[in-house]
Amino acid sequence: TTATFYFRDLGAQISWVTVFLTEYGGPLLLYLMFYFRVPFIYAPKYDFTTSKHWVVHLACMCHSFHYLKRLLETLFVHRFSHGTMPLRNIFKNCTYYWGFAAWMAYYINHPLYTPPTIYGEQQVRIALIIFLFCQVGNFSIHIALRNLRPPGSKTRKIPYPTKNPFTWIFLLVSCPNYTYEVSLRPLGTDLG
Ligand SMILES: *[C@@H]1O[C@H](CO)[C@@H](O)[C@H](O)[C@H]1NC(C)=O
Ligand SMILES: *[C@@H]1O[C@H](CO)[C@@H](O)[C@H](O)[C@H]1NC(C)=O
Repeated sequence: TTATFYFRDLGAQISWVTVFLTEYGGPLLLYLMFYFRVPFIYAPKYDFTTSKHWVVHLACMCHSFHYLKRLLETLFVHRFSHGTMPLRNIFKNCTYYWGFAAWMAYYINHPLYTPPTIYGEQQVRIALIIFLFCQVGNFSIHIALRNLRPPGSKTRKIPYPTKNPFTWIFLLVSCPNYTYEVSLRPLGTDLG
């Protein structure tokens, strides 16, 4: 009879999966709008023209691949322990992701863009290799973490290296969040 019950209203909730899909779907579509130079972004004479630099097309492939991977991982790899998060978070997160995607895409796909000159194609090739290496590393960690949690459960276990060398980083840290993120700056751009 003397107990007091406190509770906190966290406001409207939205599922994590919805948040992730909105966060990652936006940059994918926004980037492509700049890539295809839809009207009202650059001068009208450039509408629907394509860049003559192959690195611009490569950047579009890398960017799209990155976000497709994140979307597919959200749907098929990650096992979320929390069902929902506050609705307001989606506005905060989307401002960040969508804003940066548009900012990058504007310059990379600009009709006056010039490819890197100092190290030229060498720079692009090395950046691409690092990019691919880190995408595989990132994916490996996500698979390893997924396998620690049986379907439908919320268990948390300590991750250990598996046979996949990309997961050997678990020898040093248990949550190598963002370890492979360093790669997402290839081609002189930040794809993170
Ligand atoms: C880092 O990764 C772990 C395991 O996936 C996760 O529980 C944790 O929330 C992550 N931390 C951040 C800051 O993202
Ligand atoms: C993998 O990439 C995603 C998205 O860029 C990032 O949130 C995550 O922390 C990265 N994980 C690792 C292990 O680098």
